[in-house]
Amino acid sequence: MAKTLPNTRLETLVFTTPDIREYVAIEKERGVAFLTDTPVKLRHGLFIQTLPSRFTGNSLGFVEWHTNDHRSYPPASGITEEPLLPKPSSGYQTGISVLDHAATRVRAQDRNAAILEFLSLTNYHYDFAVYVKSLNSITSVARRKKDDFAMVFTSGILGDTGDGASGPTEKFIRTYGTRVHHIAFRTERIVETVAALKADGMAFLLDLVGSPEEGLRQIFTVPSPHTMLVTEYIQRYGGLDGFFTRSNVELLTKATEKQ
Ligand SMILES: [Fe+2]
Repeated sequence: MAKTLPNTRLETLVFTTPDIREYVAIEKERGVAFLTDTPVKLRHGLFIQTLPSRFTGNSLGFVEWHTNDHRSYPPASGITEEPLLPKPSSGYQTGISVLDHAATRVRAQDRNAAILEFLSLTNYHYDFAVYVKSLNSITSVARRKKDDFAMVFTSGILGDTGDGASGPTEKFIRTYGTRVHHIAFRTERIVETVAALKADGMAFLLDLVGSPEEGLRQIFTVPSPHTMLVTEYIQRYGGLDGFFTRSNVELLTKATEKQ
């Protein structure tokens, strides 16, 4: 699929900044390259994005808003067209809310460089990592504060050896390259929501994992044929101040072997 859709990927994740010109000046001084020389004028602010990272393939976008409309990205000179198709309303969408995290697959040897690059471009800090030795997998989490969107980096513990010992993450990169593997949406009533998604034709890589007692329930869809992205649905119980239970990470990582 990656060969037939070479340019299909999640391109950028956008972060806000109070002073984009100062931000760009500081990052340029550090050698960071942007797609445009100066920030682009939006109708409601200023925007710039980096060149895609050589470690992750992700570009990072930055926006300085000038009005209270924080959801409108057309350039100042752009014309906006309304979507031709109305958003379907099957009822279950109300249980699905904000982005919880995005998970990027990186090569084992680029793990530290990819995380440090992200930390130096944002005000996120490195939080923790979960090792799953049997699957040659490390899941590293960068966060800003509790309950905020998190950036997750998944890699092998050891690099790709070209055989079965490499684990699903290094194998994924062999087939699809480094890229965002999944985006996770916080979900209420996850059991009912997933059942409704299934009834609507959505296929999943595994059954729901976790439990309210463990603080989390999670599931992965199959990759989208249009974007190649997997969607994760995640419900948190009792304000768990963590991200993944160890057993969930193992089961979810294992399930990606099917891709
Ligand atoms: Fe995830």
